[in-house]
Amino acid sequence: MTRLGARTNLALLALLAAAFITGWLAFAFATAPSRWSLIVHAVSGIAILLLLPWKSMIARRGMRRPRPGRWASILLGVLVLASIAAGLAHSTGVAIAAGPITAIDVHVGAAIAAVPLAAWHVVARRIRLRRTDFSRRSFLRGTIAIAGAGAAYAATEAAVRAGGLPGDGRRFTGSYEAGSFVPTLMPVSSWMFDAIPQIDGARWSLHTAARQWTYDELLAFDDRMTATLDCTGGFYSTQEWAGVRLDRLLGSSAGESIRVVSSTGYDRRFPMGEAPQLLLATRFGGLPLDPGHGFPARVVAANRRGFWWVKWVVAIEVDGLPYWWQSPFPLQ
Ligand code: HEM
Ligand code: HEM
Repeated sequence: MTRLGARTNLALLALLAAAFITGWLAFAFATAPSRWSLIVHAVSGIAILLLLPWKSMIARRGMRRPRPGRWASILLGVLVLASIAAGLAHSTGVAIAAGPITAIDVHVGAAIAAVPLAAWHVVARRIRLRRTDFSRRSFLRGTIAIAGAGAAYAATEAAVRAGGLPGDGRRFTGSYEAGSFVPTLMPVSSWMFDAIPQIDGARWSLHTAARQWTYDELLAFDDRMTATLDCTGGFYSTQEWAGVRLDRLLGSSAGESIRVVSSTGYDRRFPMGEAPQLLLATRFGGLPLDPGHGFPARVVAANRRGFWWVKWVVAIEVDGLPYWWQSPFPLQ
């Protein structure tokens, strides 16, 4: 029993780490690797659930020992289960959002909150491993458990399709369609804390290395792009965007990367070579952007997730820093 306990805990640690890493990997891509990452992600998450009968035996034994910090272990359990429940609610489509909060917000929020508790738990409830824990037999058991989780995942996907649940309509990133080609129905969201600024177009100007641009000057451009904003909050929306391509705005500016800055201070860096594929949009679906969607001007980055589509842009700079010289995910 003790060995089984240590092995279960070790497996839980590996699965939690795998789920956490693949979740972020999926956010980093707007292309096919996102799906591969999410398959590993879903299988890891479901494997955690399958280990529950064994873990509950360990937890019951642990609870009988009067040690400090038991409440923290319970809270860890609540957060991990809440995260998995919200993940499944999103993927099946049984509950995608409650008001402005999406199931993915709850899912990722609970997972992030669980990290310090999980770190504490592993240190405070140390497991003693032996060489036999890594034997061929343990390895085989692990493989069977993963295969079981894979089969359970395939079964949930099949059930979603057969039952006609909304989850069937997800994109490869797991996102749901919302308000495509109808700008007024497109959801409004921000990465984390940015509040929507109210900007006066007549007094606003865009700063670039070469010069300042007024709103009217930008409106005169009519570069068009049909592109899909795929938000990490769990929705996507395709719109016809109009504005000016970044290579046209930047002219002959030379450098390694383009830094786009919002009036809120939020910023993202893009590789210089991407300029022709990036649009600074002032309109969508024939309408001017509204404040929620980035008025007066926002970035349209067709092959990147929503957090790259900087809103309320006030400056576009070019410098010698490489584009990866930034936090992989924004911190504000
Ligand atoms: C404790 C860590 C985590 C666990 C155990 C976990 C587990 C799960 C599970 C079981 C699902 C449902 C999968 C399905 O049936 O398709 C899911 C979905 C999802 N998770 Fe996580 N997750 C964790 C953390 C994260 C993090 C940190 C992120 C992102 C940064 C993330 C992003 C996603 C996304 C985007 C989906 C939707 C996938 C889809 O609908 O196809 N997860 N997760
Ligand atoms: C899904 C993640 C996990 C949850 C929800 C969880 C929850 C719990 C709970 C509620 C207890 C009983 C209360 C206590 O002793 O504090 C416990 C005990 C314990 N956990 Fe975890 N745990 C998780 C993962 C892990 C991991 C990754 C390890 C180690 C690598 C681990 C090692 C232990 C140990 C050694 C005990 C004490 C068992 C005993 O005293 O007999 N747990 N866990």
